[in-house]
Amino acid sequence: MSVGGRRGRLLSVSVFSLLAALGCADDPKPHDHSTHDHGDHDHGDHDHGSGEGGSDGDATNPLDAAEGTSYPWRVPANFPAPWEPKDNPTTAAKVELGRHLFYDVRLSENRTQSCASCHEQALAFTDGKAASVGSTGEAHPRSAMTLANVGYAASLTWANPLLLRLEDQALVPLFGERPIELGHTAPEDVEARMSEAERYTDLFAAAFPESETLGTLEQIAFALAAFQRTLISGNSAFDRWQTTGADPKFGALEEKGYELFNSEKFECFHCHSGFNFSDHVYYTGKPFYEAPFHNTGLYNLDGEGAYPEPNTGVFDVTGKALHMGRFKAPTLRNVEVTAPYMHDGSIATLEEVLDHYAAGGRTIPSGPYQGVGSASPLKDSLVVGFDATSEERDAVLAFLRSLTDEDFLADPAFSDPWTKENP
Ligand code: HEC
Ligand code: HEC
Repeated sequence: MSVGGRRGRLLSVSVFSLLAALGCADDPKPHDHSTHDHGDHDHGDHDHGSGEGGSDGDATNPLDAAEGTSYPWRVPANFPAPWEPKDNPTTAAKVELGRHLFYDVRLSENRTQSCASCHEQALAFTDGKAASVGSTGEAHPRSAMTLANVGYAASLTWANPLLLRLEDQALVPLFGERPIELGHTAPEDVEARMSEAERYTDLFAAAFPESETLGTLEQIAFALAAFQRTLISGNSAFDRWQTTGADPKFGALEEKGYELFNSEKFECFHCHSGFNFSDHVYYTGKPFYEAPFHNTGLYNLDGEGAYPEPNTGVFDVTGKALHMGRFKAPTLRNVEVTAPYMHDGSIATLEEVLDHYAAGGRTIPSGPYQGVGSASPLKDSLVVGFDATSEERDAVLAFLRSLTDEDFLADPAFSDPWTKENP
């Protein structure tokens, strides 16, 4: 076997999607309705029936789904079936290889960081920082996102409607220059390192039994994606209450909070909807593709709704004025351990997140980001503000904390396989 031996056939992820993932291509997307303009908000008139993820067998469709793979998914009773792509069906061997890669510092050029450096299991695969710091010390402008249920995400990262597949996303931290994360510049360097650890020989062979060349960048990306699709979190007190009708940690207070969360007063459920508390989901059997983004009035620098560069949301990708400040509504699962909050980590606590929504947008009284978010013309019309009693706030906070899934945060299946005994 020649781990990392051949470099000619770089990717069937395709150079095109690599460039797209890195933001260098114009519009590789097979559809263009994920950021459609909805006037003042993003609800109700989604473009149905376009057939993405459908079963029309079009091999060029990045959302073409695998059918009937044998992977023993551990899907919670209150979750839909996860989506997996036709060209990368999940297998236990790929997942195991992906876990090794996820925790391997060879994936950073200077061998200081792995994916797990910014995505720590105990923090639901976030890093506890407002903004991540890459392997060369360069600050990332945004906050690391949880990877809980990331296989269900309709698009990836905070605000990139073009980045649809985990297979493509994995290349961004590896090779991205804006900002530098893992700092690699040449695929063949990453591939060559795969022959440094003996165990990769068997891991790659088991994961890609059909391949003559092992240790390719495509295989690395595919295995990382397969591993990440298994990061399913659905065993919180809330889930146990929902599926069995009772849980000692989900009492009257949490139930009251869940009601308020779903009320027309708090309005949270519109954007943080469904099994993943996010309206930005895709799964097997979903009849249509949608990937809405929302401006929650965090910033209003100029009275016209401007957000500080470079965190301008979908605007950064599309350049459309209406997309300024629009971000994906993240899942709220395990939100208790994913502080600080928002795309730039600019809110420290859940209490302050509630303050932001209660005010109908954040006011920053002075300094470079001064502005009244609630007056932003670009703000989603569902962020209207509300008066809540302290009992009501406590209930919503208790509900949010009931979404912590202790098993997920400590599941050995998701943990670092490179131990001292087994380096
Ligand atoms: C330097 C810290 C850092 C490293 C290293 C890193 N990430 Fe991330 N990750 C982030 C940040 C920050 C974001 C949000 C990016 C954005 O919105 O631009 C993110 C976002 C993601 C997302 C999108 C999640 C979602 O819900 O859309 C995935 C998937 C992901 N990272 C996987 C990986 C993988 C796989 C690796 C290793 C190959 C990795 N990350 C390495 C910081 C990091
Ligand atoms: C209009 C859609 C919308 C509504 C309504 C909404 N959210 Fe959000 N939520 C978002 C978006 C978008 C983000 C990310 C915003 C950003 O980073 O700029 C977010 C972020 C959050 C976060 C931070 C999560 C993290 O990992 O950083 C929390 C917590 C949260 N919302 C809770 C709530 C609660 C509680 C309510 C109801 C009071 C609510 N949201 C109402 C869209 C919404």
